[in-house]
Amino acid sequence: MELASTVYTIDQLHKAEIDWSLPQVALAGRSNVGKSSCLNCLGNRKNLARTSATPGKTQSVNFFRIRFPGEDAAFHLVDLPGYGYARRSKSERDKWAALMEAYLSGARRPRTVVILVDGRHPPQQLDVDLVDYCRAAGLDWLLVCTKADKCSQKDKTARLHEWREVAPDMLLQDRTGPLFFSSVTRQGRDALWRKLREAAGV
Ligand code: GTP
Ligand code: MG
Repeated sequence: MELASTVYTIDQLHKAEIDWSLPQVALAGRSNVGKSSCLNCLGNRKNLARTSATPGKTQSVNFFRIRFPGEDAAFHLVDLPGYGYARRSKSERDKWAALMEAYLSGARRPRTVVILVDGRHPPQQLDVDLVDYCRAAGLDWLLVCTKADKCSQKDKTARLHEWREVAPDMLLQDRTGPLFFSSVTRQGRDALWRKLREAAGV
């Protein structure tokens, strides 16, 4: 099917509206990497998920239902609070860790974790830690490099090599390597939709 021309429906859900029988794909990554912006870009909406230039905007696990017109297929896309924001207090970091642990290891855990990383920077320890966590927890994961509009070709080549080094198993799940995405230029949007559907298995 041609995804580019498809009109998707994305609705934010209240807790009681979540259908736990549907597959979940979660967006994870450092604070400010562009998770919420990515969701808005996917949905062609400005304020579906709240974004901010100040890290730490998203504070809870937010569920969105994705529906495809004319199809029964649906899944949940989940916007997670970011990690690695240095100005957070210890108690805030502990709260984040508990929330993530509860979600990622709980009975209602996601099927796939999309790990968003800033395409301008080499792999950061906290991102590698999340990859390790997913691996150990048996969660599928895939990598998306954000802010592609600010990445040079040199950045892109470097990221591909670095991530292959850090996580050679990435290519088992994701043969093409990290996807470069921009919510400003919408580069990679259609490819990301395809990957998300694939990741959700719908
Ligand atoms: P937390 O909720 O704090 O975890 O952050 P987040 O990952 O949800 O980031 P958010 O989407 O709120 O975006 C953070 C900042 O990055 C905002 O100022 C966005 O405008 C900017 N941003 C997000 N995506 C892109 C992108 O693709 N390109 C550029 N140039 N800026 C982006
Ligand atoms: Mg956010």
